[in-house]
Amino acid sequence: MPEPILQVDGLVKHYPLTQGVLLKKQIGAVKAVDGVDFTLGRGETLGIVGESGCGKSTVAKMLVHLERPTAGSIRYKGEDVTELSGRALKAVRRNIQMVFQDPYTSLNPRMTVGDIIGEPYEIHPEVAPKGDRRRRVQELLDVVGLNPEYINRYPHQFSGGQRQRIGIARGLALRPEVIVADEPVSALDVSVQAQVINLLAGLQQEFDLSYVFIAHDLSIVRHISDRVGVMYLGRIVEIGTDEQIYDHPTHPYTQALLSAVPVPDPEAREHRERIILTGDVPSPTNIPSGCRFRTRCFKAQPRCAEEVPLLAVPEAFRGAPGPAAHPSACHFAEEKQVVPPETDPRGDRFLPPADGPGRSA
Ligand SMILES: Nc1ncnc2c1ncn2[C@@H]1O[C@H](COP(=O)(O)OP(=O)(O)OP(=O)(O)O)[C@@H](O)[C@H]1O
Ligand code: SF4
Ligand SMILES: [Mg+2]
Repeated sequence: MPEPILQVDGLVKHYPLTQGVLLKKQIGAVKAVDGVDFTLGRGETLGIVGESGCGKSTVAKMLVHLERPTAGSIRYKGEDVTELSGRALKAVRRNIQMVFQDPYTSLNPRMTVGDIIGEPYEIHPEVAPKGDRRRRVQELLDVVGLNPEYINRYPHQFSGGQRQRIGIARGLALRPEVIVADEPVSALDVSVQAQVINLLAGLQQEFDLSYVFIAHDLSIVRHISDRVGVMYLGRIVEIGTDEQIYDHPTHPYTQALLSAVPVPDPEAREHRERIILTGDVPSPTNIPSGCRFRTRCFKAQPRCAEEVPLLAVPEAFRGAPGPAAHPSACHFAEEKQVVPPETDPRGDRFLPPADGPGRSA
């Protein structure tokens, strides 16, 4: 694994639930993130997948300091940044930038594209280009595949895919080292998704970026990620390389998610086993005892209600080198191939277009 650029340990975000109007009394907490650990290597892409409400965006917001953790640490190049304030915090914030899901609401409709992309320089004048700022913004437009002459246009004059390129250009303005992309293509048409994904992949090479890439869509995550973490109800339940997670999953939740990935080949589709999860995701205010997945798990046993499974290489696979030997928070982890290898969930929709790596609008 490359040298770590981010190390997250025991990250927790609990939102207090209060009752009463004048005298607010805490009666519980929304455990949005409840003990997340991972490492992001330099130049690497870590994908994070999981159902709606499992805490992905809350993790993202803590990484870019939009939310303060309730507990745990986020180390950037070895230094715990959760304790920083003032100038030291500002310097770190510059290096970890976010790209948001919704290109329609995340851009101010009353600002020109030039002002939107150049805005980060107002907050961080220390990294603003010394000479012509306008020229730097035009360079950024070119880098993300937009015509530099569009600098005076407004967001409504662009398509969804182009607006997301503007959001990416703004994320790049301060020359960050880490980009946290929260569902960056979920709001876009499938054909445009591929272009934006290919653009992100190209920029990673060009600028030596490290990505935390959050998405619902498992095929997209596999395409772009070196490693993948699967989240359930505020925790990562399985983490490994894309090959380990997609071809050798050992956690029942990952297996269930994968069994729902669309398979293009009709014959493979007919022969594969679908794992249907019963019941709803429990509320993050009332997390089940023991294994938090047990209320929906098809393999649950009495031990699962009593003992919290740790995110570690399961005993059955320890000392046996092979793709199943990766961290999985399950007492009864077993390898199960859910997506047949010949039906690679990547499909071909993310192949770069013939005219280059995602530079077309
Ligand atoms: N400010 C807040 N106050 C209280 N609860 C919150 C707050 N922000 C998020 N939550 C709750 O925390 C949980 C995790 O939310 P989060 O937005 O991180 O999920 P997510 O995985 O990003 O979901 P989605 O896939 O729908 O974007 C949800 O139950 C959500 O309702
Ligand atoms: S620990 Fe038990 S309930 Fe949890 S995933 Fe494993 S088998 Fe299922
Ligand atoms: Mg979210």
